[in-house]
Amino acid sequence: MPAILIDGNAIARSERVLLKQRAGALVARGVTPGLAVILVGEDPASQIYVRNKARACAELGLRSEVLTLPATTTQQTLLEQIARLNADHATHGILVQLPLPKHIDAAAVVEAIAAEKDVDGFGLHNLGALVAGRALFPPCTPFGVMRMLEHHSIALAGKDAVVVGRSNIVGKPMALMLLAKDATVSICTSKTTNLAQHTLLADVLVVAAGKPKLVSAAMVKPGAVVIDVGTNRGADGRLVGDVDFEAVREVAGYISPVPGGVGPMTITMLLANTIEAAQRAAAR
Ligand code: GUN
Repeated sequence: MPAILIDGNAIARSERVLLKQRAGALVARGVTPGLAVILVGEDPASQIYVRNKARACAELGLRSEVLTLPATTTQQTLLEQIARLNADHATHGILVQLPLPKHIDAAAVVEAIAAEKDVDGFGLHNLGALVAGRALFPPCTPFGVMRMLEHHSIALAGKDAVVVGRSNIVGKPMALMLLAKDATVSICTSKTTNLAQHTLLADVLVVAAGKPKLVSAAMVKPGAVVIDVGTNRGADGRLVGDVDFEAVREVAGYISPVPGGVGPMTITMLLANTIEAAQRAAAR
């Protein structure tokens, strides 16, 4: 029997209905959740991401401000803009779209965002809170994966979870969030010598490696939950994940597709973090 599809579009839609209600309740109290997105340069993919973020804000009644700066912007100018937004009471969340031009120290820029406005959850304060099991703003992509698992009432306590990929944005926070739910977690990297030996043990397998068709059916335990975080562009420009979807769906118990899986959840969780930031600011 083919796996049950974890439909990110449908889950994102239902999450957004609830988020719109939360945003509306805040607006009624005179607090419009506000997100500032800073884009430096003209990377076409980043331009699309930023446009989608602004559009999603508008859909839910959030205020968004997109600050587009030229690729030649100095780090000092960027830091000044962040300082201005840190002090702006109408801005509850700040996001600097990555990657940044090479002459800018991205880590220093991310660190300049006030922790209570770091809705991407990339700053050291936020990452440290996650390590301590006291997440403030969980990074949006792994946060979205957790929501997808919750939507299907997939139990994690005592389960073997394997995360393929150790990025600071997805793999590492993903592992910490699964650990916080009492899963037994392994992290595999591009240096892992026998990947299949690890993935075959996984009750829950999250793949965020950036390699098309990295995970084949022979690498998946029958009945496992498989979440594909891959966003690779094929030669024809189409989006493909890291999992051989057609083959793995015949083995897995649950599977998320690409596109229409984790992707729509990421922006939804950015909206969730922004509304949460506004709610906390209103309570202060
Ligand atoms: N670039 C690609 N994905 C992301 C993201 O989630 N946040 C930011 N800030 N930049 C990105």
